[in-house]
Amino acid sequence: MIPTLYWEDDVVMILDQRKLPGKTVFMPCRDMRRVIYCIQTLATRGAPAIGVAAAMGLALAARSIRIKNKDLFMERFAEKVEVMRAARPTAVNLSWACDRILNLVAKSDLDIEGIKALIKDESQRMLDEDIEINRAMGKNGAAVVPDPAVIITHCNAGSLATGGYGTALGVVRAAHEAGKKVSVIADETRPLLQGARLTAWEMVQEGIPVKVAVDSSSGVLMSREMVDICVVGADRIAKNGDAANKIGTFNLALQAQRHNVPFYVAAPLSTVDLDTPTGEAIPIEERDPAEVTHIGGRLLAPPEADALNFAFDVTPNDLITGIITEVGVLKAPYIESLSRAKAGLISK
Ligand code: MRU
Repeated sequence: MIPTLYWEDDVVMILDQRKLPGKTVFMPCRDMRRVIYCIQTLATRGAPAIGVAAAMGLALAARSIRIKNKDLFMERFAEKVEVMRAARPTAVNLSWACDRILNLVAKSDLDIEGIKALIKDESQRMLDEDIEINRAMGKNGAAVVPDPAVIITHCNAGSLATGGYGTALGVVRAAHEAGKKVSVIADETRPLLQGARLTAWEMVQEGIPVKVAVDSSSGVLMSREMVDICVVGADRIAKNGDAANKIGTFNLALQAQRHNVPFYVAAPLSTVDLDTPTGEAIPIEERDPAEVTHIGGRLLAPPEADALNFAFDVTPNDLITGIITEVGVLKAPYIESLSRAKAGLISK
C-alpha cells in the first residue's frame, strides 16, 4: 500500500492526492506552511490523515522556533498551533490532533530540544496508532457486512484518507480479507471526485471489484436491489450521533432509509466530538465555487454563473444503523453509546 504521508528524516513527505490516479508524487514539506497548503488544497485529505498531517506539521513548526527561553517558546508554539487548527473547519481530527500535541507539550518538563523531539515522536505514534485503530475498526465492521455483499460508499474513506488501511474502506478490506465476497460501488463524489479517482484506485490496487457510479444514482441502484449495505466515513460526529461527511452522504442515507438498506458510518473515536451537541453546530466548510463550475481547469458553466460549494453535509443520527468504531459497532441512542465509548467504558 502506498503511504499517505511519512517522515523522511526531518522532512514530512505527503502523497499529492490531487494527482491520483494518474501520478504518484510526494510533496516534501520542510515547514508548517507547506503542510497547511497540502491540507487546504486537498493534496492530503480525509479526517484522520488531516489529523496526522497536522501533528507532523506542528513538529516542523516547533523545530523552526529559534527562541531559547522556554516560556517564550511555549507561547510562540501555541500561536502556531492555532494557525494549524484553522486550516480546515469540519474534520474535528485536526483540532483533536492540535490538542493532543498541545497537552503533551504542556505536561512535559523537557527542555526545548527535548520538546521538539517529543512532538515529532508523537506524530509518528499518531500515524502508527491510526493504522492499528483502522484495523480494529475494520474487523468490527466486517462482522456486519453480509456475504456476498455489494457495498456502496461515498467519497474516499480509505487508506488515503487515513494513516493507512482506511475507515469505511478498512471495513471493506477486512471483509475481503475474511473471505467474504464483497464488491464496491464508489459514488464518484462531485466536485473533486474522491470516489472516482481515489476509492476506485484503492480498490483496483487491492483487487476488490469496484464500479464507479454518479452520485445521484443511489435511488435507482437501491430500488433495483443492487446495494446490500452503505458504509461511509465521517469528518465529525456530534454528541448525539449526527455525522458530518462529504456532501452527498445525507442524500445517500435518505435513499438507504427509503429502501431499507443498512447505513453505517465508520470512524475512529477521535472523530467523535462530545463538545458539539448536534449536527447543527458542526461547521461546514464552503470551498471555492470554481471547484463546481470547472473540471480539470476547464469552465463548464456560463462564466456569469455563481456556484454553491458546501464541502460536507450532516446525516441525522436516526438514519444511521450503527457507528463502527475501534471499540465496536455502536448503536442508538448514540448520546449514550458515544459518551460511554469516549469515556473508555466500552473496549474490545
Ligand atoms: O474533503 P475531503 O476529501 O477531506 O473529505 C473527506 C471525507 O469526507 C471523508 O469521507 C472523511 O474525512 C472520512 S475519511 C476516513
